[in-house]
Amino acid sequence: MKVSVIGTGYVGLVSGTCFAEIGHDVTCIDIDPKKIDMLKAHKSPIYEPGLTELLERNIKAERLHFSTGYESVAGAKSIFLAVGTPSADDGRADLKYLRAAAIQVAQNISDDAIIVIKSTVPVGTSVEIRKLISENTTKKFHLVNNPEFLKEGSAVEDFMRPDRVIIGHQDDMAMKVMEELYAPLVRQGNPIYGMSNLSAEMSKYAANCFLATKISFINEIARLCDLTNADIEEVRKGISSDKRIGGHFLYPGPGYGGSCFPKDVKALIATAEDHGMDLKIVNAVEEVNDEQKSYVFSKVEKHYGKDLKGKVFAFWGVAFKANTDDVRETPAIAMARKLIGAGATINIFDPVATENYLQMMGEFKECEGKIKAFETKYDALNGADALITVTEWREFTTPDFAEIKKRLKAPVLFDGRNLYDTKKVQAEGFKYYAIGKFI
Ligand code: UGA
Repeated sequence: MKVSVIGTGYVGLVSGTCFAEIGHDVTCIDIDPKKIDMLKAHKSPIYEPGLTELLERNIKAERLHFSTGYESVAGAKSIFLAVGTPSADDGRADLKYLRAAAIQVAQNISDDAIIVIKSTVPVGTSVEIRKLISENTTKKFHLVNNPEFLKEGSAVEDFMRPDRVIIGHQDDMAMKVMEELYAPLVRQGNPIYGMSNLSAEMSKYAANCFLATKISFINEIARLCDLTNADIEEVRKGISSDKRIGGHFLYPGPGYGGSCFPKDVKALIATAEDHGMDLKIVNAVEEVNDEQKSYVFSKVEKHYGKDLKGKVFAFWGVAFKANTDDVRETPAIAMARKLIGAGATINIFDPVATENYLQMMGEFKECEGKIKAFETKYDALNGADALITVTEWREFTTPDFAEIKKRLKAPVLFDGRNLYDTKKVQAEGFKYYAIGKFI
């Protein structure tokens, strides 16, 4: 099937490349010529395991094309809108890129095109976009919502083996085309659910907000474990064997980050407000997460006192989670700003996210000249007062503790991801702090 995908961010690029991999003829369109040039040269603008190999294979097979223009839309049976919907200042999803792309698509489609909103959009957006497209074309079209549930870091795997595919639609023909498109991915029995456009839009926010709720819940219980000497690792085992609770997304940490949970939590709160409703649980999820981002810092303060002048902290990891170079809303922002605000400086090491982090932290004047990047995880420790683990990269999970001790001024470890065995680290002579673990 001929497919056009508008937007080459995480969702657009992974979807487009994977659709090509399963045999469709795909053109990915982006208004950023730098990105398109990179992609034409087989280079991915994002770090995502497995993606470069798929890009290369499908470009060579001439199933995957890139363009800054909308010409391919005319010949496409389905056109995916996968542009960003970032948070506006008031927390609402900003739909300006989606509207602009929808108008361009409308002006280029052929009759009976299936226009698919893949971007995460507030419930009701399909009504507005349907009207906007109608105003900009005389052609017959079908509007579908097909929210994406892939995770950064395992995006290709998630796309290729979806737990479910959701298709919001108004007519059977659109559903049939989407079933044809996704057939190779749902052949193993994973369900493809047809529903209304509005339910599809809501499902995406409900899923992300529910997952964010699990994280804030376990983070709050971990904090209570710290106060009561219970151990969150034992508690997680204790509750997750109950199938109704499950074991996923119950790992305490420095607070959720990334481009999705923070933005989608805010947007759902705003949608509820627009309907005169106070979304109590989701509001609390956000509040707990904001507090959680300062939790490791509060442990540092407890150890050293409020004045951190002259202290140096080594961050292992700055990405918002492992296997990504994405630093959007990473807990490493608040952590660094608080430490620097108290007089400290930061050494950082991350396998792939260093450049993005330094560029982003350039926005904060108070951090200028206070963050130094290193080439290896051990070099970042030289002369530092303590190690703070921020991201759960696999290479941090079994370190040489003797080497860490040798390089730090004193053996102090703040483990923001609960990566280590308490007894082992203590036996190595470390003063060890973690999240909700019995110390
Ligand atoms: C999230 C959802 O998991 C995807 O299903 C969804 O498609 C995506 O948003 C999106 O809307 O595009 P992602 O942001 O890539 O995916 O990352 P997650 O793996 O969900 O992690 C989000 C945050 O939660 C990270 O900061 C992570 O460290 C944190 N987290 C996750 C925890 O603190 N504890 C956990 O147990 C799990």
